Amino acid sequence: MGKKHVSSGPDNFNRRDVNKIAVTSALSGISIPYVHAADGNDPTRLALIGCGGRGTGAVANAITASKNSIPVKLYAMADVDTDRLYQSHASLAGQRARPEIKEACDVPKERQYIGFNGYAKAIDTLRAGDIAIFTSPCAFRWVHYKKAIEKGVNVFMEKPLTPDGPSTRRMFALNEEAKKKDLKVGVGLMCRHCEARGELFKRIQDGAIGEINMMRAYRMQGPVASCRTKKNPGNQSELSFQIQNFHSFLWLSGGAFSDFFIHNIDECCWMKNDWPVEAQAIGGRHYRGDYIDQNLDTYSVEYTFSDGSKLFMDGRNITGCKQEFASYAHGSKGSAVISSASHTPAHPRIYKGQKIEKIWRRPNQPGLVWKWNKPEPNPYELEWKHLLDAIRDNTPHNEVERGLKSSLVTSMGRMAAHTGQVISYDQMLNLKHEFGPTNDRLTLKSNPPILPDADGKYPIPQPGILRDREYQA
Ligand SMILES: NC(=O)c1ccc[n+]([C@@H]2O[C@H](COP(=O)([O-])OP(=O)(O)OC[C@H]3O[C@@H](n4cnc5c(N)ncnc54)[C@H](O)[C@@H]3O)[C@@H](O)[C@H]2O)c1
Repeated sequence: MGKKHVSSGPDNFNRRDVNKIAVTSALSGISIPYVHAADGNDPTRLALIGCGGRGTGAVANAITASKNSIPVKLYAMADVDTDRLYQSHASLAGQRARPEIKEACDVPKERQYIGFNGYAKAIDTLRAGDIAIFTSPCAFRWVHYKKAIEKGVNVFMEKPLTPDGPSTRRMFALNEEAKKKDLKVGVGLMCRHCEARGELFKRIQDGAIGEINMMRAYRMQGPVASCRTKKNPGNQSELSFQIQNFHSFLWLSGGAFSDFFIHNIDECCWMKNDWPVEAQAIGGRHYRGDYIDQNLDTYSVEYTFSDGSKLFMDGRNITGCKQEFASYAHGSKGSAVISSASHTPAHPRIYKGQKIEKIWRRPNQPGLVWKWNKPEPNPYELEWKHLLDAIRDNTPHNEVERGLKSSLVTSMGRMAAHTGQVISYDQMLNLKHEFGPTNDRLTLKSNPPILPDADGKYPIPQPGILRDREYQA
């Protein structure tokens, strides 16, 4: 077990002197020893759980951000898939890895864990104050979070946090325990850490566009990642097949809807500074051919806030159609671009009327009142800097409640489309149908919660027929 040290305040952090400094309570003036795991000679340990694309990227972001905060090193890795773990390790610590990343990786074979219980072993290598990184599909967040809380370690977890109501309730309850232990928890809705959007938020709250009446968000793209899947060719177990294609299966990810659209929905709710109370939606499946996933190909959701204002979210996964990945807000005195194309850079802007110029670079835009004029630092690194600084300074940092509300509101829009019903926030939260109630008991030999029929097809949404659940397993 590692040494326990006292953290510095924000202004004079010195990695070597970290043991000597104490945090002073604003109330009493008494020095309170705050424990974080590491100093410059023995950095904060990271345990990566879910070693795919995002997990590998998150480790690199953490190491890069640590240059301006507390030092970190990757200390343990866990995955259910041996190849994924090895590939991730090779890209972070192999011959072609960036030297500054490689230097911060120390994961010998004995700290590489394969299997559904690997997360527990990886977390057990951490000390209080170290960080567990959850970048598996969201089906396992509550399983992994429970263990991290028991162990008393900080967490970075990717979005979405949950695919359904019951797991959201469970995560809310777990998070109360995390708050009691004052664990620092970052959630991978990185756009919330974007400085340019942050400035737009302040201006909107200060009345720059008046009251927001309507927002629009678009994630219209071709079929990306594993949102469309053909039948299991039979050369791997059903569970491993579904995990590898997790965007296709609602129990694992909330489907393409939750996994992709959550960012735009979340940034709009941020600007509105509120969460919608209900949703109605439509959607359809087209050109299915041999594809057997549970997703619809088009979604159009109308979210309603308690003041009656609306957020319209359009999502599509079809090639050859108009593509757009952006969010807009319309207010009583003007309008705003929240994001222009993809996550970053966002190029937020404010216009006097309702007419928005979509090409952010275009000079002499009529009605342009404000735009972010500086470079936009990478929000994937900023979210890590903010987490590491909070650990260093012992400042409150728990993004789970916000991440859960965002995940739930996203599921609410998806369920409205999948059932053809109006779904309220409370209904979604209190839903009985849980997609993966036994996700904490899976082994490499288990069956997943849904299985294909004799034709290799899975249960799909049936709007108007199945009204209280999104599919019948
Ligand atoms: N914030 C963002 O912009 C962003 C971008 C991409 C992905 N993500 C999120 O990150 C998560 C992972 O996405 P990805 O693109 O890296 O997928 P991926 O398939 O590349 O990686 C997921 C990894 O998790 C592993 N895994 C699955 N179940 C596991 C378990 N129970 N225990 C341990 N490992 C397990 C898989 O084998 C795989 O290696 C998703 O929730 C996704 O939404 C976020």
